[in-house]
Amino acid sequence: MKTHILMQRTLEPLEKYLNTKGLVEVIINKPGEIILETKNGFKYIQDNSLTLEYLEGFAQQLATTVNQKFGEYHPILSCTLPIYNYRTQIMGKSVVDTNFAMAIRCASANIYPLETWFDEKEISILKNAILTKKNILIAGGTSSGKTTFLNSILSLVPHEERILTIEDAKELELPQPNVTRLLKSKMGTDIAKTTYAHLINSAVRLRPDRIILGELDIDNTLPFLRVLNTGHGGSMATLHADSVDKSIEALIMNISLAGAGGNERAIEKYILNALDIIVHLKRIDRVTYKATLKELN
Ligand SMILES: Nc1ncnc2c1ncn2[C@@H]1O[C@H](COP(=O)(O)OP(=O)(O)O)[C@@H](O)[C@H]1O
Ligand SMILES: [Mg+2]
Repeated sequence: MKTHILMQRTLEPLEKYLNTKGLVEVIINKPGEIILETKNGFKYIQDNSLTLEYLEGFAQQLATTVNQKFGEYHPILSCTLPIYNYRTQIMGKSVVDTNFAMAIRCASANIYPLETWFDEKEISILKNAILTKKNILIAGGTSSGKTTFLNSILSLVPHEERILTIEDAKELELPQPNVTRLLKSKMGTDIAKTTYAHLINSAVRLRPDRIILGELDIDNTLPFLRVLNTGHGGSMATLHADSVDKSIEALIMNISLAGAGGNERAIEKYILNALDIIVHLKRIDRVTYKATLKELN
């Protein structure tokens, strides 16, 4: 594909960084400097080839390759970096004081065993919930390990099942052979302007055994919960929230902000009907991650 060849060329100045061993994240706060994060912390590197002109050209080529836009009128780009398959967030002129900022999440998709987070009893509850197709919400702050945990439980989904995913960047690891991955730009910068409701309704018609949603937000919470409440078991999604209780509050807030407000008790009941289990994750330090499991109903 022509765009891929152009993308490869555009990536050249970044290649040596992207191929660093044990890389967790590549960060650019401003032109001329790149920061490599590994488990040992941040390493700052001055690189004069990373000019604003190069970085903006890179973002434009990336946007073109993934059918999005980047530029004066579209200064925010969220997508998957081709070739590497890393989640990438870019902020351009007018939304960042340095005119360019970028974070590429490179963490190798390590599949951790459930023992990383839980004791035997909780593991048996979770395994049973996965096999009996309960709906599971994974909540936590930024970098608390939500995606990592979701990948870990996805690895336990039977390979006979057909999985439909909806993500803004390809972060999920799916060992199952029968998978369709739908992509939704978070910023509405995709050329086709598809909405979450379009994709969620399409997912239902694509014969899923399970629907997995990368991250719940204002636009997708209600359509997703509606699918769960119409009998689609085995679904999973992640959510930014500080605790189990705050997860329910955050979902109510998402629904209200989407304009479907009303009786809060009724909304809460709707949410509790849709979900069976909430796992809340917390990062204590670079190597310690904690989880709380709560069964609803
Ligand atoms: N249990 C864990 N043990 C060690 N590292 C972890 C664990 N969970 C997550 N990580 C690491 O923490 C970082 C953030 O994890 P991620 O799942 O992407 O978080 P989130 O989706 O909540 O933003 C990644 O580098 C990941 O490899
Ligand atoms: Mg995540």
